[in-house]
Amino acid sequence: MSEATEQVISGLEGVLACESSIAYIDGSIPELSFRGYDIHDIAQTLTFEQVTFLIWHDRLPPAEELRAFSADLAGRRAVPKPILDVLHAMPTSGHPMAGLRTAVSMLGAMDPGGEDISPEDNLRKAKDLTAQMPTIVAAQARLQRGQEPIAPDPSLSHAANYCYMLTGKRPDDTTTRTFDTMLILYAEHETNASTFACRVVVGTESDFYSAVVAGIGAIKGPLHGGAIDEVMRMFLEIETPERAAAFVDEALASRRKLPGFGHRVYRAGDPRATQLRTMAEKLGVASGDDRWFRIGTAAEQRMREAKGIIANVDYFAAPVLYHLGFPLNVFTNVIASSRIVGWSAHMLEQYAHNRLIRPRARYVGQRGRKLGAN
Ligand code: COA
Repeated sequence: MSEATEQVISGLEGVLACESSIAYIDGSIPELSFRGYDIHDIAQTLTFEQVTFLIWHDRLPPAEELRAFSADLAGRRAVPKPILDVLHAMPTSGHPMAGLRTAVSMLGAMDPGGEDISPEDNLRKAKDLTAQMPTIVAAQARLQRGQEPIAPDPSLSHAANYCYMLTGKRPDDTTTRTFDTMLILYAEHETNASTFACRVVVGTESDFYSAVVAGIGAIKGPLHGGAIDEVMRMFLEIETPERAAAFVDEALASRRKLPGFGHRVYRAGDPRATQLRTMAEKLGVASGDDRWFRIGTAAEQRMREAKGIIANVDYFAAPVLYHLGFPLNVFTNVIASSRIVGWSAHMLEQYAHNRLIRPRARYVGQRGRKLGAN
């Protein structure tokens, strides 16, 4: 078909842009699965390393293979010195996602195999970036606070090492498990805007790093991953659970969109939010201050009553990261460094079955204008 169809689908809502066997979503139930396994089972049972392997290879690794895979990832965490130099050179007032975007682009420029788009080398890059993005995020977060970056510890799991590099403290088992689960919940989500951006770049047969840079640019936006930073700012602004309902009412009256609410696909509830709600509550109770959880549930209830709009994944993920002691302005960076797993799987899938992604626009401008005539 070479001619465009007449209908413009606003925001490409409901459009099937490709075939994929990575994540299944049924927003009406709601249901989310990775490679056929339900997200609730995955989140309760598996580790980030297992889920990464599953998403990339469509099977769960036996114990020995998992050990080798985890050690392989852990061995790739260190970043070359010029990357740290670039982060040092970043203005401390700059957006942390700009730092991540720049560092990943620099990694691509430094990689001798950067232009190799063979499946083997792309899988190697997926492993490198999954291992290195946390190192970049943590280093930049520390530099922004006037602290020196902490070198990765290969003896720690992916999640434990990430917490350690960010906070300087080796996390306890509960912290590690909580953060590991959060990373799993963000690891993949079908053809969301950033994943689609990655697929569009791959569709031109450009290189892996260029596609990841596009993904980072897309997830940074406040309608996508950038919402998580905004959620925590909103909770801080609300301040107390008693003020939550009035805050929601005022925001809706001024037609302000509230971060952490609404979803293009889930209209009946986001299954990831169910997990994160419980995690936020547990962390709040354990810390002796469950204010953020109570603000969250109060505002969520008001939003449901007023508009029937659901809380999405970012809503309770924000207080989870806040309780874990992560700096507020790197929340989006953290979720991007998890979503690299899903981006990579989609890019590998797109390279393997590629056709240029090139939609049409319905032209609504003028035609037939003559130069020289006003
Ligand atoms: N706050 C207030 N109203 C919202 C809302 C929000 N967060 N999200 C959706 N709505 C309203 C819209 O204004 C619209 O109302 P209307 O029909 O009276 O105009 C209705 O709900 C449908 O929303 P729509 O804009 O068509 O949804 P979408 O599918 O285009 O957008 C999002 C989805 C996620 C971009 C949108 O819900 C949003 O901006 N959410 C806040 C940002 C966010 O949390 N993003 C992370 C997503 S995981």
